[in-house]
Amino acid sequence: MNLFSRQKESVMGIDISASAIKLVELSHGRSGYELKAIANIPLPRDAIVENTVIDSIAVSQALLDALDKSQTKLKNVSLAVSGNAVIVKVIQVPTTTEFNLETQIEFEADQHVPFDIEDVYLDFQILGETEEDPETMDVVLVACKREIVDDYQLVLSEAGLTATCVDCAVFALENAVEETGIYVQDSTEIDAVEALDGESEGGAAYALVNIGANIININIMRDGQMAFVRDQFYGGQNLTEAIQKAHGLSFQAAEEMKKHNFAEIEDSVREEFFSNLGSEIGRSLDFYGANHAEFPVQKILLSGGSALIEGIEVEMDQRLGIEAEILNPFDGVKISEKNFDVEEIRAMGPMMMIPIGLAMRSFDV
Ligand SMILES: Nc1ncnc2c1ncn2[C@@H]1O[C@H](COP(=O)(O)OP(=O)(O)OP(=O)(O)O)[C@@H](O)[C@H]1O
Ligand SMILES: [Mg+2]
Repeated sequence: MNLFSRQKESVMGIDISASAIKLVELSHGRSGYELKAIANIPLPRDAIVENTVIDSIAVSQALLDALDKSQTKLKNVSLAVSGNAVIVKVIQVPTTTEFNLETQIEFEADQHVPFDIEDVYLDFQILGETEEDPETMDVVLVACKREIVDDYQLVLSEAGLTATCVDCAVFALENAVEETGIYVQDSTEIDAVEALDGESEGGAAYALVNIGANIININIMRDGQMAFVRDQFYGGQNLTEAIQKAHGLSFQAAEEMKKHNFAEIEDSVREEFFSNLGSEIGRSLDFYGANHAEFPVQKILLSGGSALIEGIEVEMDQRLGIEAEILNPFDGVKISEKNFDVEEIRAMGPMMMIPIGLAMRSFDV
């Protein structure tokens, strides 16, 4: 188990989630990243519920379809876990070396993880000295339920694949944004905030917000470092279900309406969804704000399949009072016209952010 390590051998990123299996293979050369293989195969509803594989035949079949469609030759996989499978916390521990912390991490984790330590895989990364307390350091602690990782690994091994890296969705998200260079913080924003507080040690933060079918992955970056992460349970599927109810449609028909006839959805259904979504994201922003008032969030960077919902950036901007923008990882990953339908792939870009971040685990750059 190595949650943070980079791989020597090439890996493909595979994101197994509630609604689909997404696979990405990249290459990295002098001119940056290039897409080598990609697939996005939908899963039947309820094949995976809360990270648990319920219908293993359907999941295995979707995985084989993804391998077939992508034509990848790789066997090693970088995998993501999210939601209630994983706990990510920034904790403070007495200053020590990485080597020493290795042996103490179980003890430290026991105080922060609500599961039996025997039932989780643990990993950590030292961030640095705690502000205002040189005796302690900030450490990112990750605890991931063994049974969930083992379940995914079993499905992969049946398809002849090996998970050589397990990552958290929130880290893959951060990795994708940093490595592709698709978002560069505007220094005038930081200066403006500093001028406002009248102090030199101010700054601005931005929030990466990946909205999927059931989960919102949030990662707030301050000064180039992760300052707050959370997975919240809300997403595009809540809207699909509301459309089903209001319009008397099947799940599939409601999905179609959401994607292709958004304007025909009842106003009250759209309003309720945007209002709930705004409150969910707002809750995390408030949590963050309570501890980091001097580094206000200046921008919300949206991704995930539900970032494709019509008008979402305008709605979030207005409801949260923070400028929102949709990220497309393919602004920083080349797609060869010879091998791919560029327009089709770019259109699903925001949805592929996490598998792209996972695929980047191959490259020590
Ligand atoms: N063009 C579109 N317009 C609106 N919604 C869309 C569009 N394309 C996909 N979606 C929605 O995006 C969601 C899937 O997004 P994504 O693939 O990021 O989620 P997931 O990773 O499968 O789910 P989760 O991370 O929550 O387990 C679905 O709810 C789907 O209906
Ligand atoms: Mg997802």
